[in-house]
Amino acid sequence: MCGIVGYIGEKNATDILLEGLRRLEYRGYDSAGVAVLNGGAPELRRSNGKLSVLEELLKREPAHGTMGIGHTRWATHGVPSIENAHPHACCDNKIFVVHNGIVENHDKLRRDLMSRGHVFKSQTDTEVLAHAIEEAYEGDLLKAVRKALARVEGSYAVGVLSTDERHHLIAARKDSPLVLGIGNQEMFIASDVSAILQRTREAVFLEDGDIADVSSGEARIYGANGLRVLRKPQRIHWDAKTSEKGGHPHYMLKEIYEQGETVQNTVRGRIGESDRRVRLEDSLPLETARTLKRICLTGCGTSYHAGLVARYWLEEIAHIPCDVEIASEFRYNRSDKEAGTLVVAITQSGETADTLAALRNSKAKGLSTMALCNVVGSTATRDAAHTLLTHCGPEIGVASTKAFMGQLTALFLFTIYLAQTRGVLSDSESTPLLQELVRIPDLIQQILDKSADIEEVARAVYKKSDFLFLGRHVSYPVALEGALKLKEISYIHAEGYPAGEMKHGPLALVDSQMPVVAIVPRSSVRAKMLSNIEEVRARGGQVIAVANEGDDEVKAKAAFLLHVPSTNEYLSPFLTIIPLQLLAYHAASLRKCDVDQPRNLAKSVTVE
Ligand code: AGP
Repeated sequence: MCGIVGYIGEKNATDILLEGLRRLEYRGYDSAGVAVLNGGAPELRRSNGKLSVLEELLKREPAHGTMGIGHTRWATHGVPSIENAHPHACCDNKIFVVHNGIVENHDKLRRDLMSRGHVFKSQTDTEVLAHAIEEAYEGDLLKAVRKALARVEGSYAVGVLSTDERHHLIAARKDSPLVLGIGNQEMFIASDVSAILQRTREAVFLEDGDIADVSSGEARIYGANGLRVLRKPQRIHWDAKTSEKGGHPHYMLKEIYEQGETVQNTVRGRIGESDRRVRLEDSLPLETARTLKRICLTGCGTSYHAGLVARYWLEEIAHIPCDVEIASEFRYNRSDKEAGTLVVAITQSGETADTLAALRNSKAKGLSTMALCNVVGSTATRDAAHTLLTHCGPEIGVASTKAFMGQLTALFLFTIYLAQTRGVLSDSESTPLLQELVRIPDLIQQILDKSADIEEVARAVYKKSDFLFLGRHVSYPVALEGALKLKEISYIHAEGYPAGEMKHGPLALVDSQMPVVAIVPRSSVRAKMLSNIEEVRARGGQVIAVANEGDDEVKAKAAFLLHVPSTNEYLSPFLTIIPLQLLAYHAASLRKCDVDQPRNLAKSVTVE
């Protein structure tokens, strides 16, 4: 997820672009740049690192002009560097592009363009857009952009300017947000309204397939069919800070609501359209996938919990023996893993000290390593032999939510990739699993649409001092994750437990004061979970059940119900975690805790 801005009017474009990029820095902050047009040559300024580095550069080397585009980057292709920073230019430095999204067919487009003499300067997918527009340009920038984008598979929100047409900018979107700001003899484009609110509250939200011809006095918008469309401007009433959170009060809630998009973005381009085979060769070569003998997943906190879920998939779908190790323990492990073991370090930030140490310990033992990570260019991606990326965009809330969702998505794809490569999963078995994975965003949205019911449950129990979370099979790691969410943001003591362990101790804790969350979707272990719920009720315990709609048996036994849609048993964690994230969020909010930055915790634990 990156941030793009654009301006055309009579004021100093650079100041306005920087102001907008500051508001968009939450969308990505590993490099930034602007391209500004005045009467003469284009002024391109790009920098590596946070926006402040670009600001310092512009103080030293000002860029003057009354139109321009800007970008703050969250790398998806190509490590953070000045060469990979946007805006990207075509061969003759006449056309400049900023882009948020992923050009899935960038390899093929790059080869085509290079075969016709285009010279590339970066490793990014975005640069292909600048050269494709250049190739299509015959004196009409709008036409050239439309023609170039027609060749693109993937997602984009783009801002384009040309030194040959200094009276307008071109903006277009598909599967990435883009808004036009309407000013007085000036126009703005931005990834979201937070970037323009200081200048105007009149905004037009472009729709997928729209392309806009933006001059200082008007914006002409054309739909996917090429015909002009009239998009009604909306008056924005949010303040800038709220709009950075998508209108939500906290980043954590915004990120909970982004989880469907996270699944889509992490899946995008990784399932073959025709053969429904998972494509992850660029993460783990086919030969390694075919020959590895064992997998060891390691991570901390939420990332560790994602590994615990994946273990069921890897062992039961791909039939690969799998260990899951807490990284802070595994880093000191002196035993030798069997040869042919692939160690997968699961880490959103790619900077967690314990996970990095576990990774290095594994490499030192001569094991093959892979980082499953959300940050391109992070230490883990540089230390590991292989990298499998999630595409969540920056996660600002300390409590991991969409990162967990991205990890589950990547691990599930990885499981199917291994199973298909090793010939242990037929197409008739893998296709329905992948079809169900692609349905998950819609199913998540169904839960989010009923979040008021979950808030009501939180209101009933937020004053409690202890919680127990129970689950079996793939729901056991969900119990651990649900307990972690609650404890880390509301400071309520919470424990996750395998439900079968109740008789071996935790049952002694059960009384009328300690809510017990039972995760009981329809599954092969549902009957056993019903018995556990009975055990709790028999001792006066209050059960909060995460169950499928229409499950009357559970409904009869639970004090509170958190409903989730039905899905394949293996995919249920994608859904059952959502109500637990929201339960934790609302309990913490009701307890007036600092939801985004809970006490004593940091977003990335870069120390032991
Ligand atoms: C979970 O909500 C916390 N944010 C924390 O447990 C986190 O998952 C852990 O610190 C690992 O972080 P990483 O994924 O960046 O390595």
